[in-house]
Amino acid sequence: MDRRVFIRVLGGGAIAAASATTLSGCSSALPPEAIAAWQGPGEQADVRRWLLGHALLAPHSHNLQSWLVDLGVADEITLFVDRSRLLPETDPFARQILMSQGTFIELLDLAARQKGLRAQVELFPQGAFGPNAVDARPTARIRLAPDASVQPDPLFAQILRRRTNREAYEAREPDAAALQAITASVSPYPVRIGFVGAALPEAMAQHRRIAKEAWRIELVTPRTVEESLRVLRVGPKEITLHRDGLSINDPMVRALAAVGLFSRTQAPGPDSMATTSQIRDFNHKIDSTPAFFWLVSEGNDRVTQVNAGRAYVRAQLAATAAGLSMQPLSQALQEYPEQAVPYAEIHQLLAAPAPRFTVQMWARLGYAPAIEPAPRRGLDALMSG
Ligand SMILES: Cc1cc2nc3c(=O)[nH]c(=O)nc-3n(C[C@H](O)[C@H](O)[C@H](O)COP(=O)(O)O)c2cc1C
Repeated sequence: MDRRVFIRVLGGGAIAAASATTLSGCSSALPPEAIAAWQGPGEQADVRRWLLGHALLAPHSHNLQSWLVDLGVADEITLFVDRSRLLPETDPFARQILMSQGTFIELLDLAARQKGLRAQVELFPQGAFGPNAVDARPTARIRLAPDASVQPDPLFAQILRRRTNREAYEAREPDAAALQAITASVSPYPVRIGFVGAALPEAMAQHRRIAKEAWRIELVTPRTVEESLRVLRVGPKEITLHRDGLSINDPMVRALAAVGLFSRTQAPGPDSMATTSQIRDFNHKIDSTPAFFWLVSEGNDRVTQVNAGRAYVRAQLAATAAGLSMQPLSQALQEYPEQAVPYAEIHQLLAAPAPRFTVQMWARLGYAPAIEPAPRRGLDALMSG
């Protein structure tokens, strides 16, 4: 069996199109309908749809796109969490879901500025969710009004170009000016960000060790693997139907799935080739990663989580502008019990002792080969009611 097949099966992301086609006549490129949203929304009679056509390109944990909007009131957008799109095993308190509301709001805001509109964002207009669960109340009410003093933000130009890149990165260190630009990009939000690279080999070794251990834990914890398997989309039919989740279009995986040799109901065992080969592949990527990025907040309430998402997507857009790629490494930041040790270690390493501080984002950073965008469900899927 081709080892790379297993690597891609559970690689924790949209692994499609990463490498050469292995079966003749099949392509691993994603179906055009699944990625049509990346051509941009085109002009729309209702400017809110144009804004939303950009917002839905935001990064979201597991590409779940848990965004629902209500356009019932003129010049307003009300945003809700689609509670059928949660990740209770790996994100038990919905922290990453709230960050993913923030990434959406930030792109919406950038698009509004582009149109000379002020987006007045009121978070949790009916009160914030409690710390453990999300509910039916809105995440945000966004009022739009023309405002001559609103300036376009240059990060807008990166929205269609941004990708979460899970390839191996070049050994080359990120450029100092790029790191400065990323730092400047998050200034609207009360977060602390940082970077580490080859100048601090001991710290790099700690980053690598924690990232590898956290990933191993996730892969040998059946319920967390099975949560990812449930949102795995294999082959053009599934990818086009869902246009969300983790997409695999590799011809070999499709062939295995077609003959029932690829189970998506049960996690492979810890010593299976599926698990060990993925760990090897991930470790190789971590070893070749030249730098890591992090984003820390003081406090961890719902507003803080949304703002952390807003800051993260700005950082990723600034990285994109500088030709740099990022891939979040969420495993050690996750609140399920098996991750308690990596969670404590990454907080300690980043001088962010919990519970006062929360590491909201930790990511690989570097120069990487170009990749395809990830699927999106499109505008109509956002409309509630
Ligand atoms: C809060 C959050 C956590 C994420 N965690 C991970 C992660 O642990 N590993 C990963 O490969 N991607 C992670 N991602 C990236 C998403 O998987 C990615 O945004 C999604 O698949 C869509 O792809 P795109 O960013 O290229 O549009 C995360 C994104 C967000 C917003």
